[in-house]
Amino acid sequence: MTLTLHSKMKLRDGKEIPIMGFGTYEMDGREAYTAVKHALEAGYRHIDSAEWYYNEAECGRAIRDFCAASGVPRSEVFFTTKLQNNSGYTTSKRTISRSLQESGLGYIDLYLMHSAIGGPKKRAESWRAILEAKKDGFVRSVGVSNFGVRHLQEMVDATVELPVINQVDLHPFMTRTDIVAMCRKHDIALEVSWAPLVRGYRFKHPSIVRLAQKYEKEPAQYSCVTLCRRHAFEGYIPLPKSSSAHRIKSNLNVYDFELTSEEVAHLDSLDERLVTDWDPTDTP
Ligand SMILES: NC(=O)c1ccc[n+]([C@@H]2O[C@H](COP(=O)([O-])OP(=O)(O)OC[C@H]3O[C@@H](n4cnc5c(N)ncnc54)[C@H](OP(=O)(O)O)[C@@H]3O)[C@@H](O)[C@H]2O)c1
Repeated sequence: MTLTLHSKMKLRDGKEIPIMGFGTYEMDGREAYTAVKHALEAGYRHIDSAEWYYNEAECGRAIRDFCAASGVPRSEVFFTTKLQNNSGYTTSKRTISRSLQESGLGYIDLYLMHSAIGGPKKRAESWRAILEAKKDGFVRSVGVSNFGVRHLQEMVDATVELPVINQVDLHPFMTRTDIVAMCRKHDIALEVSWAPLVRGYRFKHPSIVRLAQKYEKEPAQYSCVTLCRRHAFEGYIPLPKSSSAHRIKSNLNVYDFELTSEEVAHLDSLDERLVTDWDPTDTP
């Protein structure tokens, strides 16, 4: 399968998502607005935000301004945001409305439960609110983030509508084979990977440096393409984040080479269960 910047993946609900996304964690205010504008101008069409990032308004404004200036229709830009707390049905409904209003985008393409924290009852109530928001047309697709096997199994057992996506940290140093297998088994989610650049923590790893030199890439680009390549076989979506206009652009420079199967296998052997941020996948 040949991947390009415009490649999309079909979700289990029939909607399509651009495979290359842009992360906005730890960017707020003007920084978020400017970075998202740069990203859209560079060609990204998938922006990942969250209530927790305090940048839904800036991301939404950047998308609206970009669409107005470029003529690219709103429908060509995929916007994701997330519910910070699973605090029950009523609060979740209110939160979704607020996120929609903050973004000013008319609808949210993908709405995720940010984590499973809160326990089974609150999770179920929040999921019900999210499904209702979908029915009402406020959100188009619904998913989860940081869900472990037990949380996905809970949804399967409850016979509720299943998420289209589980957004977790996946990269060569954290392969989460149990969660990946669970998602595949039930065809419940494609795995959207966060920390695709391993937050920079492994740019000096000898395997990364060696391959980056071989393909004449920066280590970040190399890391990114690893996931893009793996996507072709396994269904991953990378969400690289950068606040630098240069790096936002150069991180897209990943479509002009292919890894050998030996190199993919080698990268798959590097797992060290490296947690780059938080790991609530085992929360009760
Ligand atoms: N669901 C969740 O719980 C969750 C958690 C974390 C993240 N996420 C999502 O996933 C996205 C990506 O994860 P992330 O932001 O944690 O990490 P990441 O994308 O793996 O790495 C971002 C870091 O790499 C640096 N970087 C980017 N491009 C670079 C390059 N070409 N050369 C050198 N350094 C470079 C960035 O610095 P500069 O900005 O200075 O370039 C930043 O420090 C987030 O933004 C967010 O949207 C979701």
